[in-house]
Parts: sequence; C-alpha cells; structure tokens
Amino acid sequence: MRFLALFLFFVTITCNANTLWSKTGHRVTGHIAQKHLSRKAKKAVANLLDGHSLAFASTFADEIKADRSFSKYSAWHYVNYPMNMRYEDSEKSEYGDVVMGIEKCKAVLQDENSSHKDKVFHLKLLIHLIGDLHQPMHVGRGSDRGGNDIQLQWFDEGTNLHRLWDSNLINAYGMTYYELGDELVQSVTKKEKRTIQAGTLYDWVHESHVLAAEVYQSVEVGEKLRYQYAYTYNDLLFEQLQKGGFRLAKVLNEIFG
Ligand code: ADE
Ligand code: ZN
Ligand code: ZN
Repeated sequence: MRFLALFLFFVTITCNANTLWSKTGHRVTGHIAQKHLSRKAKKAVANLLDGHSLAFASTFADEIKADRSFSKYSAWHYVNYPMNMRYEDSEKSEYGDVVMGIEKCKAVLQDENSSHKDKVFHLKLLIHLIGDLHQPMHVGRGSDRGGNDIQLQWFDEGTNLHRLWDSNLINAYGMTYYELGDELVQSVTKKEKRTIQAGTLYDWVHESHVLAAEVYQSVEVGEKLRYQYAYTYNDLLFEQLQKGGFRLAKVLNEIFG
C-alpha cells in the first residue's frame, strides 16, 4: 500500500513536470495582454481577479491539478489530433480539449446569469488556456501525447519534446516574465499587432498544429540538444508567447467590451 502511494506520488510529480507550459511562459502571455486591455476590460478583469494581474492568475489552472476534484479540467490544457488535419474535421475527445475549454470559459464570462464565483474561475482558466494553445506541443498528435513520449537530452538533463517546449527553452533563456513580456511588447509594430490579432480561434489552433509539425521534425529521438537548438528555435518560442499575449487581450476585450 505504501509502495502504491509512493508510486502514485512519483507518477503525479512526473506528469506535472512534463506537461506544464512553464510558469514564466504563462506569465509572459498574461503580462503582454494586461498592457493591451481596453479600459472596460481592465476594470472588469481587476474586479474578477480581486486586483491581481493576468500574469498572477495565469498559473491557477496548473495549480488546481493538485486537487482531484478539478480533474475534469485536465483535458482542457491541450488537444491532440492527426497531423495534416484541421481541428474542425477531427474526432473530438469526450473529455473536452483546449478549444472546447476556451469556448466554455468565454460562454460563462459572457452569460449575465453566471455567478461571480463561476466568472472568476473561468476567467483564470481562460487566461491560462490561451497560453497553452500557443505551445505547439499542446496542439500535437495523440500517439506520442503531444511529444511527452519523445525522449531527449537537454544539455546533461533528460527531457522530452513536450517539456523542452513547455519549460527547458524558456527557462534557459533566463529572463523574468516581466523582462521578456516588456521586450516582446516593445518590439511589435501596430501593423504586426493587427496581423497577430486577426483570425478566429480555429485559425489559431490550426497555426499551432502546423508549427507542431515543424517542432516534431526538429529533433531525432534520443538526441542531445544544446545551444544550437535554442539559437534556432528561440524566435519561434518568443513569437508564440507574443501571439498568446496579444490574442488573450483581444479575447478579453471582446468579452468585456
Ligand atoms: N497529455 C496527452 N496529450 C497531451 C498534450 N498534447 N499536452 C499535454 N499533456 C498531454
Ligand atoms: Zn505542457
Ligand atoms: Zn496548461
């Protein structure tokens, strides 16, 4: 019995370590979005988050994973479907996925009959899920669980393709979420911002799925990755964080007017 408990403990720890678009990534997205909220949205969000920032609330959806009573939300962090297919044509999971999760959060926030408590919960989830949507390995294929089953080496540390994109790359860059968020805001022109914010949720999920194909072909199983990989892919990583931020602002501005 004690062995089983210990085993489950390690399985839980390992799963968590493997599936979290890092705290820094989520906070960067929240930090960027915060700076692009309309006056009305800023006020509504501050009211629902008790004065806290989007960055602060962005990791809540990962924190509740520690509590089994929230397990129905764990499938909302990602979506897997065959490459070369559009989400709209894919078979949907009965447990939900990141697209259904985002739609549900939007619906709760737009429904004037939703309770304050439900709105708070779904806003926190929405902030997080828009971030996850932009991690290409959260829109990958099911056969390798979004890259979790593709083992790799990152310098001298064992990792996998999912974790490489969730956290290894961004942590290695060594900037705080504040610094990286500010950097990714100041380097964007008005025109680029408009292009990023164009399109629908379905366009965005498709874009991440196409990028997932590129990420899958960027490694060989068991490969030892070092500076060269970061040098090649950091721009893509930063672009995804930037898109997540500007699109989160767009979604919130649409919800709150
Ligand atoms: N579990 C199964 N597929 C996953 C994915 N794409 N991302 C995170 N966790 C997963
Ligand atoms: Zn992840
Ligand atoms: Zn997540």
